[in-house]
Amino acid sequence: MTAAFDVERVLAELTLEEKAALTSGSDFWHTEGVERLGVPRVMVTDGPHGLRKQAESADHLGIGNSVPATCFPPAAALASTWDVDLLDRVGRALGRETRGNEVAVLLGPGVNMKRSPLCGRNFEYFSEDPALAGDLGAALVSGIQSEGVGTSLKHFAANNQETDRMRVSADVDERTLREIYLPAFERVVKRAQPWTVMCSYNKINGTYASQDHWLLTEVLRDEWGFEGLVVSDWGAVVDRVAAVAAGLDLEMPATGGRTDALVVDAVKNGRLDEAVLDTAVRRVLTLIARARPALAEPGSIDVEAHHALAREAAADGSVLLKNAPVDGTPVLPLSADDAARAVVIGEFARTPRYQGAGSSQVNPTRLDDALTALRSATGTELPFAAGFAVAGAGGDAAPTDAALLAEAVEVARGAGTVLLFLGLPAVDESEGYDRTHLDLPANQVALLRAVAAVNDRVVVVLANGSAVAVEWQDAAAAVLETWLGGQAGGSAVADLLLGVRNPSGKLAETIPHRVEDTPAFGNFPGDNGHVRYGEGVLIGYRWYDTRLIDVAYPFGHGLSYTTFGYSDVTASVSGEGASSAVDVSVTVTNTGDRAGAETVQVYVGDPEAAVLRPTRELKAFAKVALEPGESRTLQFTLDARDLSYWHPALRRWAVGGGRTVIEVGASSRDIRGTAEVTVTGEALHGTLTADSTVNEWLAHPRGAELLGAAFGEATAALDPTMLAMMGDMPMRVVAGFGMGGFDLAGLDDLVARAAA
Ligand code: BGC
Repeated sequence: MTAAFDVERVLAELTLEEKAALTSGSDFWHTEGVERLGVPRVMVTDGPHGLRKQAESADHLGIGNSVPATCFPPAAALASTWDVDLLDRVGRALGRETRGNEVAVLLGPGVNMKRSPLCGRNFEYFSEDPALAGDLGAALVSGIQSEGVGTSLKHFAANNQETDRMRVSADVDERTLREIYLPAFERVVKRAQPWTVMCSYNKINGTYASQDHWLLTEVLRDEWGFEGLVVSDWGAVVDRVAAVAAGLDLEMPATGGRTDALVVDAVKNGRLDEAVLDTAVRRVLTLIARARPALAEPGSIDVEAHHALAREAAADGSVLLKNAPVDGTPVLPLSADDAARAVVIGEFARTPRYQGAGSSQVNPTRLDDALTALRSATGTELPFAAGFAVAGAGGDAAPTDAALLAEAVEVARGAGTVLLFLGLPAVDESEGYDRTHLDLPANQVALLRAVAAVNDRVVVVLANGSAVAVEWQDAAAAVLETWLGGQAGGSAVADLLLGVRNPSGKLAETIPHRVEDTPAFGNFPGDNGHVRYGEGVLIGYRWYDTRLIDVAYPFGHGLSYTTFGYSDVTASVSGEGASSAVDVSVTVTNTGDRAGAETVQVYVGDPEAAVLRPTRELKAFAKVALEPGESRTLQFTLDARDLSYWHPALRRWAVGGGRTVIEVGASSRDIRGTAEVTVTGEALHGTLTADSTVNEWLAHPRGAELLGAAFGEATAALDPTMLAMMGDMPMRVVAGFGMGGFDLAGLDDLVARAAA
């Protein structure tokens, strides 16, 4: 790596052609350099849960091989840990591997919302909740960047499906964007300042994200204070000149100089201000300069320690959905005796499903499978049957293999416990396309039913990157959702089943009964180039809880081998309006006989709001480790933003105030304590005009006074039924009909006095 360079001095010496070249890649994975001025090229590479550094063939679909790197669990599993400290540690390890491989920027994490469980890339995303995704994303980014390398927060924004992802227009109202699809990005930007943000391929309300000035400049930089560089998703730039003008700094990958020439022309003919291009160049140079020190000292990578960390993360990201008693005792964890008499069934025990397909596909340093891990931990050659064949690249589910099934049933018959490894075939979950249903392959469900017919201690271990329907779960005594566990997922499962580790994961996404129940059903994935976000702010549990739709497992759910009690939930409000805050306190106690960790969730409801609000929204959480009998009192402070909604007309955050419900729970449907406070809201009145309705005038202190006086002179208008009928009439109509005791000239006078 060459010596340090001065960004401003280099900028001053660059030709126009060099500036255009610097703001696009030099190849698939490198920025451009300027040798004569000592500016090196630097490498950026995928991401997010491991490094995909390709040595030779370059592609963004995970096809070409890459150097070995630790494959940590993808975001779906990491999110289920609800553990910001763990995410920070995983981030540090990722940062060390990035640096150790002389890569400047790791292209992740992705904090897009899981709008539908069908999204093909959900395994790479954290949650259906923006606060959870934002907190975890910020921790991961801080961890990675603490090693002196950068991240790329992606895909900004409203990239919530793979179908037509490179063109589709996500048609979303602003309130929904502000409350649901943008806040995770906002939180990561404000807390962790990622070195780069990657814009998405899709359009938002008709404008390509790569060319959206409102998104890339007004919101991202002017409002949130983003200081880094905006890079395009690979191939997301449609009109490079428009993109630079909108605030896109770096186009990736290289276009062979084609779009650089367009930028040069645009500056020469005055269509693009050179100062705007200079700003982009400055950001690219700053990024390169920033990466220089770490790249000069790559350091070593502790492969063993990273594998151990991946194992810890996989265990803590697994969610124990169900653990029913058989003969009076929960089936898990297995005692030493149970373990010695267990059998293992399911191809995924031998051939793990541990990551998804596409640009995030990592070439692991090693790979643990559950069968080997269970055999070595128990010291017993546990019997195994594959039970099913996994569907191949054709996409069709493999037919039930009668011989495999019959063999599995024989293995299960008379066994102490059946550890049955099921999940989605790899072909079901990939970048580039979405799923069309929520089901496990039929041959796996048939296997479960057949095995359960001969053994009542069946433990289903699931491997899938996004929610699957679990209508078969009556046949299982226990269900452990491991998501995709990364390279150490196999040994992590053994740790959990054998009770070496106590499960502490919680669902970061709801598990619905049916795809028809899901919020975006009917509006996903859209058609004819548009996807309408018709469910608005009601995504995930916000939808199910507000509409009282029964779910298989709610957001936030997850069992432990111990139990937790909640007590003394209190809430108190301070300040008012835009400086309101609510302090919440709760005591949690480990009421069982094992050490364990509980994630306490704080939800806020605003039942008196002037707009439709979800019944409850997660605003804070904390994971706390407790010894048996130990108690801990947790304090949370909710700020005004946590109490606000995005006011569609005022186009800003607004504290509506009134009765505010604070719920503390173990899931969105397991609320253990509720406290109510009354928040003093802001004055949220727009300017009164002739077009404002009677109700809007009456809701405004000055308007009510003026109208009351005017109506006083037309007493018929005060009749309650009459008032109700008139409530939604614009004042100009009331005046035109002469119903309120004033004519149009009188109304002009009222409007003027209201403004005075
Ligand atoms: C993906 C990005 C990825 C990029 C580079 C794109 O297709 O959407 O997430 O970082 O390729 O591989």
